[in-house]
Amino acid sequence: MTVAVVVGCVIVAIIGVGVLIGGAPFVPTRRKWIHDAMKLAQVGVGDVVVDLGSGDGAVLLAALRCGARRAVGYEINPLLVFLSSLRLRRFRKKVVIKTGDFFRAELPADTTVIYLFQVEKVLKKIPDFIEKQRPNLSAKKLRVVCFGAEIPGRKFVRERGGMSLYEF
Ligand SMILES: C[S@@+](CC[C@H](N)C(=O)[O-])C[C@H]1O[C@@H](n2cnc3c(N)ncnc32)[C@H](O)[C@@H]1O
Repeated sequence: MTVAVVVGCVIVAIIGVGVLIGGAPFVPTRRKWIHDAMKLAQVGVGDVVVDLGSGDGAVLLAALRCGARRAVGYEINPLLVFLSSLRLRRFRKKVVIKTGDFFRAELPADTTVIYLFQVEKVLKKIPDFIEKQRPNLSAKKLRVVCFGAEIPGRKFVRERGGMSLYEF
């Protein structure tokens, strides 16, 4: 009984923190779909890929496997930051996973690709968020891949499966 309660609490802690701040709960993107996202954004050598709500780090890992120069995750849930850092420890020279609300973060100046698996309420705020970051960003065109929902009021440039690619 006690073990079941502890396991239950751990599961709730892993899944639920994002929801408390109005973001998506932790639901990992399946491997096949991550592959689609990398293809859609044509992630390759020279890219700096940012996952806003990086969960278990699977997207960061896939980006590095596609040759990305660096992968940066922002994650509100410290437990997931711990687990993903452990998972990506081999790549520690190329990966940074930051704990906290990504809306309060300053994106790396050399960001080229952003991945988002978030709820519509969060995606609605993304254009303003990127606009605010714009003076600090060196890429003329930022590729933004969204999974699960589209950015309200914004036209995507390409689509693959449930993924949409936007340019900002
Ligand atoms: C649907 S999961 C996606 C995880 C991972 N990106 C993937 O695709 O496998 C969303 C993640 O975003 C995190 N999250 C939600 N709102 C956030 C915020 N404002 N700042 C940082 N992380 C957030 C949640 O804790 C959760 O891990």
